[in-house]
Amino acid sequence: MAGGSGLFISFEGIDGSGKSTQARLLAEALRAKGRSVVLTREPGGSAGAEDIRRLVLEGDPDRWSPETEILLFTAARRDHLEKTIRPALSRGDVVITDRFADSTRMYQGIRRGTGADLRAMVDDLHSRMIGVEPDLTLLIDIDATTGHSRAVARAGAEQRFEDMGSAMQARMREGFLQLAAQFPRFTVIDGARSPEAVAADVLATTLAKLA
Ligand code: ADP
Ligand code: TYD
Repeated sequence: MAGGSGLFISFEGIDGSGKSTQARLLAEALRAKGRSVVLTREPGGSAGAEDIRRLVLEGDPDRWSPETEILLFTAARRDHLEKTIRPALSRGDVVITDRFADSTRMYQGIRRGTGADLRAMVDDLHSRMIGVEPDLTLLIDIDATTGHSRAVARAGAEQRFEDMGSAMQARMREGFLQLAAQFPRFTVIDGARSPEAVAADVLATTLAKLA
């Protein structure tokens, strides 16, 4: 837990799974019930981390080595935690983040065959520099082909990862499901339904956690 009396929720899943849509709908539903909610995202969520977001998501796909990328995402997360997440949880707010450390475990931990144990590096740096996990992680699960076509339809300047194609997305999906099987904080939600149907499951899971 990240401290304080609030609840810390993350959304995870492959690109195009519907995380941003569901994070927004959950924030609206909880606010309608009178809860104070901070809706945030990674990379980003604080001024410094948004600056780092531009460095990691824009430009040449080979701009950073995998190791440098792990450092940049973790640096962004540390600033997000210090400036946004911890203060909100201390106030008793619900914090909803669109991605957190599980994204680094997947995207930086498994994606490139460098020979180095990147996943071990991610976990080591996480335990030294971040040291907290969400109270609840909602994995919006969708097949790679659907996710990829949704993400491509929406593509803008932040292309470095979205160019990676559906084979990599399929590996990523499997990796997320393995994490979900490993850590009890996860709930897997079937994302291949209407936004409203997905949102109903997301809200029911969250209310059960808040109760
Ligand atoms: P993510 O944050 O996981 O990348 P988004 O919430 O941005 O996903 O959704 C990606 C695209 O798919 C957006 O254009 C969004 O409007 C659309 N979308 C989101 N949820 C659904 C859904 N349940 N069914 C169909 N399209 C969806
Ligand atoms: P995001 O804006 O959530 O993209 P999307 O809406 O397409 O899911 O995240 C941007 C990209 O950043 C996404 O492709 C995943 C990548 N990413 C990492 O590689 N590592 C990380 O630690 C995080 C938080 C994101």
